[in-house]
Amino acid sequence: MRAAAPDAAVFVRFSGTDAADGGWDIDDTVRAAERVAAAGADLVDISSGGLVPHQSIQPGPGYQVPLAEKVRRETGILVAAVGMIDDAHLAESVVAEGRADAVLSAREWLRDPHYALRAAVELGADLPAPAQYLRAY
Ligand SMILES: Cc1cc2nc3c(=O)[nH]c(=O)nc-3n(C[C@H](O)[C@H](O)[C@H](O)COP(=O)(O)O)c2cc1C
Repeated sequence: MRAAAPDAAVFVRFSGTDAADGGWDIDDTVRAAERVAAAGADLVDISSGGLVPHQSIQPGPGYQVPLAEKVRRETGILVAAVGMIDDAHLAESVVAEGRADAVLSAREWLRDPHYALRAAVELGADLPAPAQYLRAY
């Protein structure tokens, strides 16, 4: 991919842990992230998924941030956090506290396509709204 798209930003998604004995774990992800960064990836984002019945995952706001934080701390490469980070203040704190370099959200955009505008207002950001949104902003 790096060779085919030399100017594009390449993000690589990892399922950071299987959260199950005998499975892939976050230390495996740290080592794999180092390898994709060495191969030219610009950023890794750290999620996790369901694979086996005996896994143990407790979803909640920001529940996967510790995975991203560990990869960032141990590799120094750019890292994004994902997973139930659907509150503007939580997203802001994850980046401001240096736990991740970026936050990627998904389902909140399905609930509210204007999430970015709402988050900007909630955070008091002085963003120039698109002209057609100015009065709503
Ligand atoms: C039902 C469901 C299953 C998912 N399965 C996986 C998965 O297997 N592996 C993975 O890396 N991310 C998985 N994700 C995470 C999504 O790819 C995406 O990162 C996540 O939805 C972003 O978090 P948010 O939607 O809470 O903002 C899953 C998400 C949902 C809702």
